[in-house]
Amino acid sequence: KTVAIVGCPFGGGQPKPGVDKGPIRLVNAKLPEQLKGLGWKVEFNGHHPFEEIDAQSDPPIGLLKNPRYVSRACKAVSDVVGAHAKNGQLPLMLGGDHSLAMGSVSGTLKQYPDACVIWVDAHADIHTVDTTDTGNIHGMPLSFLLGLGPKVSEFSWVKPLLNPSRLVYIGLRSVDTSEKRILKENGIRAFSMHEVDKYGIGGVVDMALDHVNPKRDLPIHLSFDVDALDPWYAPSTGTPVAGGLSSREGHYICEAIYQTGCLVALDIVEINPSLGDVRSVEKTLAVGCSLTRAALGERLLFTDTNEKSAS
Ligand code: ARG
Ligand code: MN
Ligand code: MN
Ligand code: MN
Repeated sequence: KTVAIVGCPFGGGQPKPGVDKGPIRLVNAKLPEQLKGLGWKVEFNGHHPFEEIDAQSDPPIGLLKNPRYVSRACKAVSDVVGAHAKNGQLPLMLGGDHSLAMGSVSGTLKQYPDACVIWVDAHADIHTVDTTDTGNIHGMPLSFLLGLGPKVSEFSWVKPLLNPSRLVYIGLRSVDTSEKRILKENGIRAFSMHEVDKYGIGGVVDMALDHVNPKRDLPIHLSFDVDALDPWYAPSTGTPVAGGLSSREGHYICEAIYQTGCLVALDIVEINPSLGDVRSVEKTLAVGCSLTRAALGERLLFTDTNEKSAS
C-alpha cells in the first residue's frame, strides 16, 4: 500500500502568517520516514507549489478574503488528490489551513462518490458566503462541499458531492450561532466535547461511525484539524480553543478509523510553526506526526486487542 504525501504550504484561507510552513516542518520532522517504518510505501515529490496572487488582483468577493487564491489552490489540490486516489494510493494532505480540505475532499469524492467524511475539529467550518463573520475561507470549506448558501462563480468547480448524511463531526466546541442553525437545518450529526465527556471517546467514535458508515463498508476521508486537540497538546495553531480532546482521545479516533480498514484519505491541517515558543512548536509537530502514524496503522501492541490470540 502506498501513501502519497500532498504537502500544501498554503495559508490563504486565514490571516496568520506561518501556517504555510506546517507541511515543510512535518516532512523535516521525518514524517515520511516514520510512515515507511510502519510498512507503507511513501510517495513524496516535494511540496505543491501555489502561485500567489497580489492583493490588487484578488479583492474580496463579498466578505471572502483571497477568494481567487484559495479557489485556485484548492482546485489544484483536488486534482492531485483525485489522481492519487485513482491510482489506488492513499492521499495524505498536509496543510496549511483547513480551506484546503475543499480540495482534498473534492478529490476523494471524485474517485469515491459514496465516501463519508469524519471532520475532527474545534470548529464546524461550515459558514456560507452569507453567514461568515470573518471572511476567512478556512471557516467555510464544508458549505462549498455540501452546496449550501449562495453560489460564488469563482468556486463553481467545487461540485456539491457531499451529502449531509455522510458528514460527521467530532470535537466541536466553538460553533457560531449561524453555523448551529446550518447543522440543525441539514440534520448534520455532530459530537461536541460535551458528548465526548458524556459517552467517552470510544462511544462517540462508535456512534459517529454508526451514523455515516453503519456497515463499515464505505470509504472514509478523515479531515483532522489539530485545533480539535486541547491547546495543551497542540498549542501552535491559529485558532486554539480551550477544553479540547486529550492527546489520547485524538489518537483513539485515528486508531479506530484505521481499524475499520475503510480509510482512503487523510488531512492533517492548521499546524502553524510561527506561533508559540520552540517547545510549543515541537510539541505540535510531534503530535501531528503521531496522529498521522495512528491513522496509518501504528500499533501500540504486537497484536490487535480485538483479535483473539490463536491458541
Ligand atoms: N468560525 C471561525 C471563522 O469562521 C473560525 C474558523 C476556524 N477554522 C479553522 N479551520 N481553524 O472564522
Ligand atoms: Mn478546521
Ligand atoms: Mn478548527
Ligand atoms: Mn465564525
